[in-house]
Amino acid sequence: PLVTPHEALRRAHAERRGLAAFNVIQLEHAESYAAAAEAAGRTIVLQISQNAVRYHGALAPLAKAVIAVAEASSAPLVAHLDHADDRALVREALRLGFTSVMYDASALPYEDNVASTAEVVAEAHAVGVAVEAELGEVGGKDGVHAPGVRTDPKEAVAFVRDTGVDSLAVAVGSSHAMTERTARLDLARIAELREALDVPLVLHGSSGVPDETLTAAVRTGMTKINIATHLNHAFTDAVRAYLAEQPEVVDPRKYLGAGRAAMTDEVVRLLDVIDAV
Ligand code: G3H
Ligand code: ZN
Repeated sequence: PLVTPHEALRRAHAERRGLAAFNVIQLEHAESYAAAAEAAGRTIVLQISQNAVRYHGALAPLAKAVIAVAEASSAPLVAHLDHADDRALVREALRLGFTSVMYDASALPYEDNVASTAEVVAEAHAVGVAVEAELGEVGGKDGVHAPGVRTDPKEAVAFVRDTGVDSLAVAVGSSHAMTERTARLDLARIAELREALDVPLVLHGSSGVPDETLTAAVRTGMTKINIATHLNHAFTDAVRAYLAEQPEVVDPRKYLGAGRAAMTDEVVRLLDVIDAV
């Protein structure tokens, strides 16, 4: 079924386990994640990023597909809008029935970021939807999820208190879209943030993080683990291998099906790595 993330976040946070969040670009991603969630008996967050919306030119078609996949599944699945800085897009997601949204106002001056995020929290909570925000270096220019950026625990406490967000993405050493798994996480900072904050912490850019470090990050205090690039890698490798072996094939179901199956296997494996709830 389609669920809100509240219960899974609460449980994963309390038990120091992970809540898996994987990005959806096309229907096959959602089908793959649902199959893996059912096979493993876990909850998965299916997330559509604002960038994926720009690629398709609209939110509704893919969003309705994701919500339909979630509703038809026997596994608990969350429909989440990822990395949105467009308030109109967040409102559309609420209307479409998403159960979770990430709102990123970090490009605004700090006070405006807080005010704008608090407004989104009020709108989302009015319809029972959870809100994730992110906080890197206040005034930082590197982008939040860059290797050298760290979230300050004191700033994070004030930001969560003043906005009322349900979860917080923090900068602890990962960066987005890495194709090699060579990132090193600041486990000491994760422990400090976990200690200072009551809300579950979100790790972005988890594709670049090696398995053992992902497990350690979850045990130390990261809760929601966002992975996109690594699964696209698995998908594309399988499609490429399929087409190289069978160059005469023209039916997309053949090679997309190979990609979808490869992603499902990798997701099932990752669910154990992060001890997903
Ligand atoms: O919000 C999505 C994640 O942060 C994905 O990052 O592609 O580096 O795994 P990634
Ligand atoms: Zn991200």
